[in-house]
Amino acid sequence: ETEELLIKYSLEAKETSYSPYSNFRVGAALLTKDGTWFKGCNIENASYGGAICAERTAYCKAISEGHKEFVALAVSSDQDEIVSPCGICRQFISEFGPGTLPVYLVTAKGAHKLITLSELLPLSFALEQGQKFLMK
Ligand code: THU
Repeated sequence: ETEELLIKYSLEAKETSYSPYSNFRVGAALLTKDGTWFKGCNIENASYGGAICAERTAYCKAISEGHKEFVALAVSSDQDEIVSPCGICRQFISEFGPGTLPVYLVTAKGAHKLITLSELLPLSFALEQGQKFLMK
């Protein structure tokens, strides 16, 4: 069932993490409205600042393949505690919404906390606010 697949795929996605600097492997699994799955891993860089998070990798793969409507996201790491998306990822994900998007925060053992996108980023600056700003 979808929840089990989200957790399973987010743990699988972690396996291709490129994280030689932090050894902090992160995996993400993303389900689109038409039922397509995308996995993503964090990809670090010698510049440190050039790294990209697993969530944004998954989103970039999905969007660049023509998907813009999402139904669920899961993020996992090797920790026993849940991994919480960074602020850059929260803003990036908010662009596509919906605020009710279920986000599964998965532990190394497959336990999870479920939270919505608008709980992760309340009062977000998203497209609609941008449009209001542009129209002034
Ligand atoms: N990182 C993620 O990939 N997702 C998160 O939700 C939190 C942080 C990675 C781990 C490490 O590679 C760091 O971000 C570098 O950007």
